[in-house]
Amino acid sequence: MLAGKRILIVIGGGIAAYKVLEVIRRLKERGATVRVILTRSAKEFVTPITVGALSGETVFSELFNPAEEQDIGHIVLSRDTDLILVAPATANLIARMANGLADELATASLLAAAAPIIACPAMNQRMWAHPATQRNAARLLADGVRFIGPAEGRMAERGEAGVGRLSEPMDIVAGVEAFFAAAATPKPLAGRHVLVTSGPTIEPIDPVRFITNRSSGKQGHAVAAAAARAGARVTLVSGPVSIADPAGVDVVRVETALEMLEAVFAALPADAAVMAAAVSDWRPAGVAPQKIKKAAGDPPPLAFVENPDILASLGHSDRRPKVVVGFAAETTDVETNAGRKLQAKGADCIVANDVSPEGGVFGGDRNSVRIVSAAGIDAWPTLSKDEVAERLIALIAGRLA
Ligand code: C5P
Repeated sequence: MLAGKRILIVIGGGIAAYKVLEVIRRLKERGATVRVILTRSAKEFVTPITVGALSGETVFSELFNPAEEQDIGHIVLSRDTDLILVAPATANLIARMANGLADELATASLLAAAAPIIACPAMNQRMWAHPATQRNAARLLADGVRFIGPAEGRMAERGEAGVGRLSEPMDIVAGVEAFFAAAATPKPLAGRHVLVTSGPTIEPIDPVRFITNRSSGKQGHAVAAAAARAGARVTLVSGPVSIADPAGVDVVRVETALEMLEAVFAALPADAAVMAAAVSDWRPAGVAPQKIKKAAGDPPPLAFVENPDILASLGHSDRRPKVVVGFAAETTDVETNAGRKLQAKGADCIVANDVSPEGGVFGGDRNSVRIVSAAGIDAWPTLSKDEVAERLIALIAGRLA
């Protein structure tokens, strides 16, 4: 996997720098060419001689060193590479990267880089948890920088523990291998636009109350992530959830079914749509403008009106994506109900799952589904929600091909 890969490691000035020596050794063992830039402060922790001996290459550090620039300019250094690994990525180095500073060779090279970057943070747990570091890391993530770690455990400071340790060398190597493996996997949905709905909708009763459906958004978000990994441009229209946005996906946040319907149609055209949201079938007939008071006597009656069926609207629309997939969460007669929905909603297939309480599907990480389509019923084994998503995306890619 790593044979012939050119990896540039930027070593930051942290106590964990010594662990990166092991990373260099393991990457070299696997056939990668490893070149290293040391930040100025990294030289306080590891010496260019040790690093050079391990990497078997010239070690760079100075921006204005004529000898080094002659040998290989700092722009070339970051260009002529398949991957840049920043380890340890100290709080200071992360802050400089997030702000585009080019105050020494290491940061100038990162700013000039065309290659993908993986940062491996390492710092005291309080520094990692600090809002400034979290802000900087989030900005790097948004800029496309990937992260390995930080890991949890004991800190260099006596008696302190938490999240902030550099990941173990072999975990970093595994992360690098996974990166190249993902880059090498085919992208069957390249050039396609996939639309996904996920999470619940919430329907207000008054300014403080609402009704909703149970949905963690895990399955829908996993589908969006899998579609992005398969190379698609992905629009994820999501109701309120407490899980993170999947990487590389455009997220449109909505609350009500009416907002979701509008966002779905605004995102068209799409090649495929996967409607995994738990849309509220009804909404309160009128939203009280003020909080409904608890008065003596009867509780207030609630009248409902039906929400539009987003899946059916899309499935029967003249702007219908070529492949439309619906979900059916049922507690009884799973297959019969799913079969009926296939017709009613104009879907190509329905992913039917039994959500009776004993199954633990809601909020859980595993799912047991049957794929109901014109071709019949295909029962998949119990899989993780990520695996269900992968299979579903493969199925969609097959139908689009
Ligand atoms: O009819 P039921 O709610 O069981 O159908 C489930 C499927 O229909 C899911 O794919 C869900 O996202 C979709 N749906 C919808 N709009 C609604 C109700 C359900 O898109 N109003």
